[in-house]
Amino acid sequence: MFGRKKSPLLGVDISSSVVKVLELAWKGNKYCVESYAVEPLPVNAVVESRIENADEVSGALKRAVKRSGTKAKEAAVAVSANSAITKIISFPDSLSEREMEDQIMLEAENYIPYPLEEVRLDFEVVGPSAVDANAVNVLLAASRRENVDARTEVLENAGLKAKLVDVEAYTMENAYSLIAKQMPHYGEGLTVAIADVGATLTTLHVLVDGKIVFTREQTFGGRMLTEDIERHYGMSYQEAGRAKKENNLPDDYGPKVLEPFKRSMTTTVTRALQFFFSASTQYQSIDHIILAGGCASIKGIDAMIEEETGTSTSIANPFSEMVLGAKVKIQALSNDAPSMMIASGLAMRSFD
Ligand SMILES: Nc1ncnc2c1ncn2[C@@H]1O[C@H](COP(=O)(O)OP(=O)(O)OP(=O)(O)O)[C@@H](O)[C@H]1O
Ligand SMILES: [Mg+2]
Repeated sequence: MFGRKKSPLLGVDISSSVVKVLELAWKGNKYCVESYAVEPLPVNAVVESRIENADEVSGALKRAVKRSGTKAKEAAVAVSANSAITKIISFPDSLSEREMEDQIMLEAENYIPYPLEEVRLDFEVVGPSAVDANAVNVLLAASRRENVDARTEVLENAGLKAKLVDVEAYTMENAYSLIAKQMPHYGEGLTVAIADVGATLTTLHVLVDGKIVFTREQTFGGRMLTEDIERHYGMSYQEAGRAKKENNLPDDYGPKVLEPFKRSMTTTVTRALQFFFSASTQYQSIDHIILAGGCASIKGIDAMIEEETGTSTSIANPFSEMVLGAKVKIQALSNDAPSMMIASGLAMRSFD
């Protein structure tokens, strides 16, 4: 009644190398980056997307929250594609939400390969069914209890309340809507691949008309490059990681270390696309590739992938249409932009 603002949701991306936090606001008709921070994690605190050392992770999250300056007390997190199962099922549109829930609980065991007491389950009506005028499509999402609970506990120990747990693929779909505007015809009718190459994981998402149709995760990432630098120049892991980002390494770094990594990254993305084509009967081409994740910042990787695949390739920047709040440093933000897609998709959930 007095125009009290809804309390903001902090987007929290718990990944294998860092914890990322992002808070967005809505100003005028644009998103505004209110606060953000990226805080490193010790090696093996998170392995692939499994939280192995919860204390280290909540410690890093607490530091990230403090450094970001956010006042948000509630947060949104995501579980990875590999640890979630999603299914589209249809129900008569005459059912109330309550009846639908009862029905889903009755039928869920047909869709989920785990005992129901071991999973967290949620559903959302996504729209009318294409084949039955009296039915709606419902997206059922399930994740093993331990994946969800490990994340909500880390948040609680860092002083945050987990308001929402999303599935990474849908978070990416949400974040893509920020970029779609820059595509030809606003992305309408396009088949777009987003390759998220992080520290240890590479995930390929394929979206048609802005909707996720395929997601596949594999182990490949920038940590391999850091380890190559370590070996080649006798540096510590931390030194190697820093030198890689700042690009201050001896002259032979380019040809001897970086170039071979770029080749294997290109091969990884190309093979992931080939896998998608062979798994799909419907889609046999891609109109555009978007590179996301920290490895998208490697100089010239977009050109190399574009050349190899023959498909136009760009680098994800979820912030390109946003304004920046007073607390945010533009240089740091633009360096981190390609790796902030998941955090952005989560922070956007504030405005659902
Ligand atoms: N400018 C840069 N040049 C080269 N590599 C970079 C650059 N910036 C970041 N990276 C690398 O990107 C990786 C981190 O990317 P990102 O933040 O997407 O990973 P993550 O989300 O923590 O990992 P994952 O998704 O695999 O769990 C690190 O290996 C980091 O060294
Ligand atoms: Mg990541």
